[in-house]
Amino acid sequence: MTVSAPLEGENTIFLDLRGVADASAGPQIFAHAQRLGLGQRILVEIDRDPHTLLRAASFQMRETISWSAEEKDRGWQVEIRPRVEVDARDVVDLLVWDHYRLDRQFSEVLAAANAGRMEEAEAIFREYWIGLRRHVYMENHVLAPALGGGMEQGPLADMLFEHDSIVEQSRLVDETFREQDHALLPAICAVLSGSLAKHENREENTLFPLWQAANNRDRTRAAEFLERTRALLAGAEDQTVKQMFPE
Ligand SMILES: [Fe+2]
Ligand SMILES: [Fe+2]
Repeated sequence: MTVSAPLEGENTIFLDLRGVADASAGPQIFAHAQRLGLGQRILVEIDRDPHTLLRAASFQMRETISWSAEEKDRGWQVEIRPRVEVDARDVVDLLVWDHYRLDRQFSEVLAAANAGRMEEAEAIFREYWIGLRRHVYMENHVLAPALGGGMEQGPLADMLFEHDSIVEQSRLVDETFREQDHALLPAICAVLSGSLAKHENREENTLFPLWQAANNRDRTRAAEFLERTRALLAGAEDQTVKQMFPE
């Protein structure tokens, strides 16, 4: 029995799990689901009822995915999407979910670098790097001016300061990959992974409650932010994002 490699369309990952035992199919679904971005989906072909596998994957993903499964002739077809596409109440929900995703991606970069799988580490880093810049662009340039939080002093000022440092550290990782200075990678990735986790935690506990309250005061604007952030995190404003945060 062979395990087929997934085919990747721009926003669809095709996974053929026909003939693949559960012991291997489950981890494959989980591995791809972890890297699922907004606007993306996984299409799975499988030759048996997939519900138990999907429930296990969803549990591992802290219920951040949603799926639909349909019985087709001689098998099942499953579509998996980020649950937040349907569920997010506001822009803050989306950003919290995106923190979780960026964290996961970066710890995968670190794990691959530690294991000496540099090509894989670099491929995941590229996804993380554009994702991080989209996220920081949204926070710095769209939400901060509108929702406040203390531009000079306060949680917003801390956030802006930490973003500069995280973007700078990510740029260093980028350069290190480009220069193929592989011996340095595990150490600088470990430092960045720590900064990222600390920053996200602080942001969620200090700034986001203020933003959520400010955001709730204007329903029309809140709906616009939600829609714009969904599109932006899926790549809709990449030209501007890359101008603001060049590589
Ligand atoms: Fe954030
Ligand atoms: Fe942030």
